[in-house]
Amino acid sequence: MAFEASNHVELYLAALNLNRSIYRTVLYGPNPSKVKKPKSSKGMTIEGPPKANESNDITQTEELWMEDAMTQNEIDERREQIDSLLKSNPTPKAHEAVSKKFEVDAGKHWDEFYKRNGDRFFKDRHYLEASYPDLVKPNFVFIECGCGVGNALLPLLESNPSITVIGGDFSKTAVETVKKDERFIKAQTENVEGERAGRAFSEVWDITKSPYPGTYKPKAGGEEASFGQSFADAAMLLFCLSAIPPAKFDKSVNHVRHCIKEGGLLFFRDYGRLDDSQMHLLPSCLKDTGRVLGHDTYVKQDGTICHYFDKDEVRDIFERNGFEVVELEWVRRQYMNRGEGKARRRTWLHGVFRRVGGDEGLVRGKEAEIVEEDKVGKVQEKRKSCEIS
Ligand SMILES: C[S@@+](CC[C@H](N)C(=O)[O-])C[C@H]1O[C@@H](n2cnc3c(N)ncnc32)[C@H](O)[C@@H]1O
Repeated sequence: MAFEASNHVELYLAALNLNRSIYRTVLYGPNPSKVKKPKSSKGMTIEGPPKANESNDITQTEELWMEDAMTQNEIDERREQIDSLLKSNPTPKAHEAVSKKFEVDAGKHWDEFYKRNGDRFFKDRHYLEASYPDLVKPNFVFIECGCGVGNALLPLLESNPSITVIGGDFSKTAVETVKKDERFIKAQTENVEGERAGRAFSEVWDITKSPYPGTYKPKAGGEEASFGQSFADAAMLLFCLSAIPPAKFDKSVNHVRHCIKEGGLLFFRDYGRLDDSQMHLLPSCLKDTGRVLGHDTYVKQDGTICHYFDKDEVRDIFERNGFEVVELEWVRRQYMNRGEGKARRRTWLHGVFRRVGGDEGLVRGKEAEIVEEDKVGKVQEKRKSCEIS
């Protein structure tokens, strides 16, 4: 029924009135308007978007999927498989320097990724409002941390005509691509409620290093101002934290918290432990030097890092960094590749967290200090010194 609705806004508003978990079961996936009429094939649901162009990418959608209830036996088997692979291949000391280099060069590898792939790799994520219904609220201020080329942000500009979107990513190429998109350009000149001119902003930002360094032009005119802290109704980490070395999770989450208003939300979706891609990636990483950074953290062939999260681990990360859990659940699906006739078992974690407490504990990054000292004037110039490309 929901799949047949053509108007996104109506669809998502309808979602608000339905039980969240039931609705998520139906809509966690690609653009509902692109979904072909369901034909059933062994209990699978048919979806429209193109197939993944790299087999290891689980953020892409393939054509057929169904909910996947992994049994405890299957979970235990996968765990044992990973444990025994790691046990029989202890990482030699000599690998440490190479692993460190992968961590240090993470930004460079993502930038090369976007230079190679442009905006062709990930598909626009039109399903987010169904999973995170707050995104359809009027005059909502939303920041995506690690926004890539804007596959989440840009569709929101169309589906919510009064949303303000802010996107930060440490790949300069990704940010430049976002800024060239015609939806972004149009929204830059649109006036909405609030103090800022325009409703689309994007900036190079390494979330492990500082709070969001971006600026905006006040609607009333005058000098550029910094976003500073506590400016967003919600932030999102969508397949971003997994790309960061685990030792930097706390700092990164704290920098994200810095952006969110007290009581505001953080939407989270990322790779889950025991996903098929983890099961395939680990054996290939073990053959190379330094590509196993930890039990569940590996380096892909292209040099980018991928961590697979456990549910308790995610809860701990957010709770110890000033959030309370609103929603946190496994999402497990089977995707059928019709060409190969094979099913792939995908595991994600979906979360919604609320920022609690006041400003205590907020990381006072270099940029925040600069902004406070110099509210009017040379913010732009100083910001450049914090950029990483
Ligand atoms: C798998 S992509 C997801 C992109 C986007 N969130 C989406 O879902 O379409 C991961 C993104 O995180 C970004 N990223 C990784 N580490 C980052 C960091 N330390 N600071 C900012 N962005 C980062 C990468 O450049 C990349 O764009």
